[in-house]
Amino acid sequence: MTSVKKIVVLKGDYIGPEIMSAGLAILDAATRGTTFAYELIDAPFGGDGIDRAGDPLPQATIDVSKQADAVLLSAIGGPKWDNAPRRPEQGLLEIRSKLNLFANIRPTKVTQAQIDRSPLKPEYVENTDFVIVRELTSGAYFGKPRKLEAYQAIDTMYYSEEEVTRIMHQGFKMAQKRRKHVTIVDKSNVLATSKFWRKIANEVGKSYPDVIIDYYYVDAMTMAIMSKPATFDVVIIPNLFGDILSDEAAQITGSIGQIASMSAGESGPNLYEPIHGSAPDIAGQGIANPISMVNTVAMMLTESFDEKKIADKITAAVDYIIENHYVTPDMGGTMTTDEVTQKMIDYIKKYESADIK
Ligand code: NAD
Ligand code: IPM
Ligand code: MN
Repeated sequence: MTSVKKIVVLKGDYIGPEIMSAGLAILDAATRGTTFAYELIDAPFGGDGIDRAGDPLPQATIDVSKQADAVLLSAIGGPKWDNAPRRPEQGLLEIRSKLNLFANIRPTKVTQAQIDRSPLKPEYVENTDFVIVRELTSGAYFGKPRKLEAYQAIDTMYYSEEEVTRIMHQGFKMAQKRRKHVTIVDKSNVLATSKFWRKIANEVGKSYPDVIIDYYYVDAMTMAIMSKPATFDVVIIPNLFGDILSDEAAQITGSIGQIASMSAGESGPNLYEPIHGSAPDIAGQGIANPISMVNTVAMMLTESFDEKKIADKITAAVDYIIENHYVTPDMGGTMTTDEVTQKMIDYIKKYESADIK
């Protein structure tokens, strides 16, 4: 008998619940008639955590997440809680840290159907398919001291040898399964942590002789991912730089509302979330792009549950709506979140009845 997988659902804030409903509807449609069985466990988190349980990361949410097979998050934060004593974003940093999710994987892939939606010329974007491996539980986000006082403020950028070594191994291993090319991004012409980052990259790289390594300073990399995105394969990058570069990379596909991510550690459940935020500017209008959440569900099925066939169905549904321009306004369409989701469900049902394959 197959075991029932426990999925903790953190429904999020602003557009969070809107896209989470879409993602769960697709999960339901795509798993119908299969042997994959799952249980959804709702837990308060982010702004919703503050409202329902008094904290962006209630202890009960951590406890239930640790026992889960995967954690599925939409997006948190927004003006309602920007002045809270503990902001929703604090909860996000803490859950990443407490689950030891040090590797954040953010893929940027431009499919044939997406080429026309990219702000770059087709000849630049064609064949773009790279993965950003962002260090997620250290660097400028977590280093101490960190202070905000009346006349000064301090953040500390810190990396230990262990922290850099493990993220390098993650990236190099991933490259071995892909096109065997790693790009190391840092600011080693200035920062000590970046000199350290590059030195360890070099050392770890020796254990992967089949992988080609190249190096970019982060400022030059912001240009390179615009001018030659198709040349990259696996990009290994510190926390803060990775946050910035992954939003830039997302835009190559035409909208950040399409990009999924996985945060993983050495053991325990992974956390899956779109890379974008809670988009307060469009919340409540029913026009949030559900694709990022749907891709996130597909990533969870592949990476945590080894259910590639179910994930492929979902990916085919995403390709189908993009090809037919059944998309939300951020992608130049006129459809609502629910209409786009329904188009994907209809496609999955047809796929099931073998009309399409
Ligand atoms: P954002 O990513 O929420 O929005 C940036 C732009 O992208 C906006 O114009 C928005 O409308 C658009 N966008 C994002 N997702 C979209 C989607 N699915 N469909 C259509 N358009 C979409 O970034 P922001 O406005 O800087 O941040 C808003 C809040 O989200 C802040 O509180 C921030 O801290 C938080 N945030 C949370 C996460 C997360 O939960 N992982 C990530 C980033 C930002
Ligand atoms: C992201 C977000 C978060 C980050 C914020 C909301 C803490 O921007 O997931 O990219 O900076 O990591
Ligand atoms: Mn970000």
